[in-house]
Amino acid sequence: MEVTEKATKSANDYRAYVGPMDTYDLVAATQFNLLTSLGLREHHYLLDIGCGSLRAGRLFIPYLQPEHYCGIEPNSWLIKEGIQNECGYDLIALKKPSFDSNYEFQSTMFRRKFDFVLIHSIFTHATQKQITNCLSETVRVIKPNTVFAITFIEGSEDYEGDEWVYPNVVAYKMSTMQALMERFDLCFQPFDWPHPNKHTWLLMSPTKESIPTCPDTASSARMISELEYYKRRVEKLESSLYVKIGIKAKKLIRKLKS
Ligand SMILES: C[S@@+](CC[C@H](N)C(=O)[O-])C[C@H]1O[C@@H](n2cnc3c(N)ncnc32)[C@H](O)[C@@H]1O
Repeated sequence: MEVTEKATKSANDYRAYVGPMDTYDLVAATQFNLLTSLGLREHHYLLDIGCGSLRAGRLFIPYLQPEHYCGIEPNSWLIKEGIQNECGYDLIALKKPSFDSNYEFQSTMFRRKFDFVLIHSIFTHATQKQITNCLSETVRVIKPNTVFAITFIEGSEDYEGDEWVYPNVVAYKMSTMQALMERFDLCFQPFDWPHPNKHTWLLMSPTKESIPTCPDTASSARMISELEYYKRRVEKLESSLYVKIGIKAKKLIRKLKS
């Protein structure tokens, strides 16, 4: 009995390492829903900084086109366990995500520019120097309209230490986060998106215009307009003479068969 319990615990260490076990799936859903609500589509390129055990990657990798997901994670054992237990090798062979295990937030080795950058639960543990380093590296791989989605813990004092804090978290004032980001000419917007561990979400982009409007309003508007577009396409298809003939022929064949 004891052996089984130990085996179960260690089999789930890769989940426990990145946060509370009971919200592993919810935190994944939150990230996926947010980015798709902000306009991420399968043809976009996504950089997941500190991708951990692919908590979110296991949703983004199947969704995106092959080679469109890149993750940085210094603890390579997390990626290995995530692939083994969450994605499976067949999916990795099919979707060909790229990974790198550096501690310096470097992503130029992927040799591409990204449409979306996800920095989830990284600044919640990082020093100001690490945040600065992360931003200075990441601006090297962005486009004029790249969208960053970032979480941090908002507090009344800034963490002034010079060590990554883990698994405990650190807090920053909103004004400090804003100042750090503006140093890289990035426009900044906090917004209200659910998070079970009380993180604050921030959106960032090189221009104000390229920051998507808050998802609770615009994303549903975007989804609705996409749905409308496809509805109109189906209506157009259905009204085509060839399709009408096809539908009638199909009905007739079904009748003859029965
Ligand atoms: C709380 S976890 C979040 C993981 C992932 N973003 C998620 O949502 O599941 C923090 C992650 O940051 C990683 N990390 C630590 N130092 C890092 C660094 N210098 N660069 C990138 N990631 C780092 C840790 O290994 C860990 O996987």
